[in-house]
Amino acid sequence: VFGLETKTIGRHVLYYDSVESTQIIAHKVAREGAQEGTLVIAGEQTGGKGRMARPWHSSNQKGIWMSLIVRPMLPPEKAPQFTLIAAIACAKAIEEVTGLEPNIKWPNDILYNGKKLTGILTELQGEADKVNFLIIGIGINVNQKNEDFPEHVKDIASSLEIESGQPVSKVKMIQKILKYFEKYYVLYMEKGFAPLKILWESYAGGIGKPIIARTITGEISGTAIGITDEGILLIEDHEGNIKRIYSADIEFPS
Ligand code: BTN
Repeated sequence: VFGLETKTIGRHVLYYDSVESTQIIAHKVAREGAQEGTLVIAGEQTGGKGRMARPWHSSNQKGIWMSLIVRPMLPPEKAPQFTLIAAIACAKAIEEVTGLEPNIKWPNDILYNGKKLTGILTELQGEADKVNFLIIGIGINVNQKNEDFPEHVKDIASSLEIESGQPVSKVKMIQKILKYFEKYYVLYMEKGFAPLKILWESYAGGIGKPIIARTITGEISGTAIGITDEGILLIEDHEGNIKRIYSADIEFPS
């Protein structure tokens, strides 16, 4: 399927015209034993899920809505790194297919001109010491026009077609995402996160800039320093203390 250049990732594909959320299907088939690299993909979603329990608008055939199942032999605290690996794979695919040079906003947004093209949602099913499986949900706005977005996201969302000025092949995008995801996944399992961190930072727009991180326990503002070898965001606050951010929404105030 899709003219793939991968060994395991996307070699088993479950396609649906319309589902509530590919995350839900992926969880179900993973629990039933779906193999490493299984891809669940849908034409449209009626209840797409975003991070922090937000909805993800995907009730049209114009984007890529897919969830990838992987079963790395790793402790659960490594799971967030897969969001970053997927983000690099998507950024690289966007670059190759459209020529655009996107930015990654920690941990998971891919932006162009400050507008969101892609969101990634990684969900973990595991035990105290090991991952059973990860579901990496990837949503890419591909051929939407501005009027296709709901009113409240029109100013913050964009699509590959809007930004590149021409329709973009979803199949080509999927091929490249899977190819790069596999490549970086293999690299990660062999060499750890360090080489990927360098790649990630090459896409990260905000390093060295003022940043605000909103976490469930409050707000931290300061300067974005980078990420650690574990993929944790580092912020230097106004007193010069280095804060480690595991999960947050971030903003670059202008
Ligand atoms: C975010 O930025 O909040 C993450 C969005 C993730 C959306 C994708 S679309 C495919 C998969 N299925 C879902 O319901 N969500 C993810």
